[in-house]
Amino acid sequence: MIPLIDLNSQYDIIKDEISRAVLDVLESGQYIQGQKVKELEKSMAGYTGARHAIACANGTDALILSLHACGISEGDEVITTPFTFFATAEAISRVGAIPVFVDVDRYTFNINANLIEEKISNRTKAIIPVHIFGQPSEMDAINELAQKYQLYVIEDACQAIGAKYKGRRVGSLGDAACFSFFPTKNLGACGDGGMVTTSNDRLAAIIRALRVHGSGNAGLQAYNLLSDENVQDFEEAGNNHSVTDGAKYFNYLIGYNSRLDEIQAAILLVKLKYMDKWNEARSNTADYYDSMLQDTGVKVPETIKEAESVFHMYILQAENRDKLTQYLMQKGISTGIYYPVPLHLQKAYRSLGYKPGDLPVSEYLAARTFAIPIYPELTEDKKRYIVDTLLQFMS
Ligand SMILES: Cc1ncc(COP(=O)(O)O)c(C=O)c1O
Repeated sequence: MIPLIDLNSQYDIIKDEISRAVLDVLESGQYIQGQKVKELEKSMAGYTGARHAIACANGTDALILSLHACGISEGDEVITTPFTFFATAEAISRVGAIPVFVDVDRYTFNINANLIEEKISNRTKAIIPVHIFGQPSEMDAINELAQKYQLYVIEDACQAIGAKYKGRRVGSLGDAACFSFFPTKNLGACGDGGMVTTSNDRLAAIIRALRVHGSGNAGLQAYNLLSDENVQDFEEAGNNHSVTDGAKYFNYLIGYNSRLDEIQAAILLVKLKYMDKWNEARSNTADYYDSMLQDTGVKVPETIKEAESVFHMYILQAENRDKLTQYLMQKGISTGIYYPVPLHLQKAYRSLGYKPGDLPVSEYLAARTFAIPIYPELTEDKKRYIVDTLLQFMS
């Protein structure tokens, strides 16, 4: 069976480096939010071109922390796409705001920037474009609207680490950007992990505080930014005890526990070195699939000229998808369906009152799209077998 994603073959290649990195952490005695996390934050800031990178527990938290730091709460509206993983909208709901779904483009699967303006109301506070399947959204049009209506732009870059828009990497294209290190992502940990990148000093300071219960130095700094007080030090803030580690028990904001483990950071630092090479392998496979499958009865994905996708997934469209994926399965090829139910029609969002037909392109795609394997270690033989099997079915 050719799996959709093959984590074992990647692990086999870097096994020794990973083992060494993990053992180093075990021997260091420092397990959460330590030196490795700091190093990873520095590397991610450098990699994305953002001024700050703040590690957290997962991609969903990265979105929640960013929305919270932007001051988005009860009754606010946030515009996003319904053709994404549930967490994008869930994060909006978690801070008390309302997701407002805008339909997507049929060929790139990203939010249709031409349809955003008509959904902006006086309650709209932010836009979350999702760089779905690894392709950046149309950031110029989105940023222009955001500027016109004074909205925050939070990139959901959970599937798109390394992708570029007009030569700039995602993570530096909005006010803040959110990454997931879920194991199957292009940069995946051996567990959960997440990161926010931003060049906004204020947002960075607030997110740094929120991820650790609004406590300690980070909490104090964020408190000074958000209140009209200016508390200079812990003593002034009430910490006149002779407790060396006391800072952490002084809380200035109501935040979260959303820290990253040192072991995950150490593993991610090893893998980050290979990121561009792995993304290039995905891109080469996409080129091969494009050339072999164009005009054959399945629709290949399109990339806008401003974008360089990192092909987290390679998504085809077919009228007879279910028969086709069943055939592939019988022939030993795994596929995946992303996404079978657009978010506006999920039961969890029944209270928002959307009906079938409201966002027709997302609904059309939900019935036709499927992913074929594109992981970096996929061999030439396997790629050829996948293409041949698809063509066999079509003929
Ligand atoms: C587009 C998108 N947003 C958000 C998330 C949430 O990330 P996590 O699973 O790390 O919480 C994911 C991945 O799972 C995702 O693909």
